[in-house]
Order: sequence, then structure tokens, then C-alpha cells
Amino acid sequence: MIKKTLTLDYGGSFDGEVLDLLISEEDIQDRIKHLARKISTDYKKKKKPPIIIGVLNGSFYFMADLLRAMSIEAEMDFIKISSYQKTGSTGTIRLIKDISADITDRDLILVEDIVDTGLSINYLRKHFENSHPGSVRVATLLYKKEITKVETEPEYVGFEIPDQFVVGYGLDIEQQYRRLRDIFAMNPPPTNQ
Ligand code: IMP
Repeated sequence: MIKKTLTLDYGGSFDGEVLDLLISEEDIQDRIKHLARKISTDYKKKKKPPIIIGVLNGSFYFMADLLRAMSIEAEMDFIKISSYQKTGSTGTIRLIKDISADITDRDLILVEDIVDTGLSINYLRKHFENSHPGSVRVATLLYKKEITKVETEPEYVGFEIPDQFVVGYGLDIEQQYRRLRDIFAMNPPPTNQ
């Protein structure tokens, strides 16, 4: 792999720290095409298209690329929760924006940027199950499997990664670095402040 690093310099608390390339833009796109093919095959015989629900903010690039790589129709909506401050989950989830679609008897695919502690997807699966959808599956680009505590494993996983703090391709630190096309690991990892 090409060794690529960036030094943080946005004038924030992490200036001078280094980002190491973890997953390249090319590898991200290849993997998304694979996931999109799998999802298209799994849902193509359903009577109604699935509803893809993006979990804001971090999933927006993944959601857009996944949807465009699929060969079946899908409806889309977004939900916003907050579970996380600066560099980790707080342990409490707050619903900030709910979906507007009627999901009764519909097949849902929740799209996450990363499953870290697993709190968010545990909360979201329960939240949606109250509205009696036909089915609920989770697609996550990144999965910190070693440290995650989930009741149900995500059904579609882009990459399993070690317990490192990552940014880029929609993922942020203090709202910075979402725009990067590759995914980088912070070195040394940030500490919660
Ligand atoms: P969970 O509830 O701990 O699984 O966390 C999910 C949310 O925390 C993700 O949707 C991200 O917004 C955020 N998060 C967790 N780990 C990272 C990371 O390494 N980089 C950036 N955001 C992260």
C-alpha cells in the first residue's frame, strides 16, 4: 500500500498529530461495488424496493456511493442521532431527526459509516422495530468488531478495522476532515477531552 500521511493543521486541539492512510479511495469504491451487488441480489425479488436509511452525518458519502452502485431501485430517508462527542460515544443516544417515510411492512437497510461501541445500531434497530417494518438490516462501511457489543451483527460490512480512531470519507473529528477521499487513522489516537 502507498504510505500516505497528513499532518493536522486546522487550528484545533489535534494540530500536529498525524493521519496514516488506512483504506484508499480505490479500495473503498471496490468494496462498495461488492456490497451493492450483494444488496441488489438479496432484495431484487421483493415486491417493494427497500428503504435505505442513512444515519447522519457520517454516512452521507457511503450512502450516495452505495445507492448509485446498486442495480435495483431503493427509496431513501435519513435519521440523525447523537451518541458521540469529539472522539467517542457518550453512552447516551439522542434522536435529533427522525425519518418521514412510512416503514410499516417495508424492508429497511440502515446505512452507518462506522459501528464502534454498537450503541447506535442497537438503539436504531429497536427504534425502527417499534414501527413494525417487514425487516431491518444494517450496512456499515467500517466495523470495529473487536470492541463492538451488538445484539445483532451488521448484515453488510465494508471493512473490519482495529480499534483506531479514523477520519475521512464522511468521518470526522470535531467536524473536520469529512471531505478526505481516503480513510485515515489518527496517530497517536486522540484522547477524550
Ligand atoms: P457507536 O454507537 O459507538 O457504534 O458509534 C457510532 C458513531 O460514533 C458513528 O456513527 C460515528 O459518528 C462515531 N464514531 C465512532 N468511531 C469513530 C471513529 O473512529 N471516527 C469518527 N467517528 C466515529
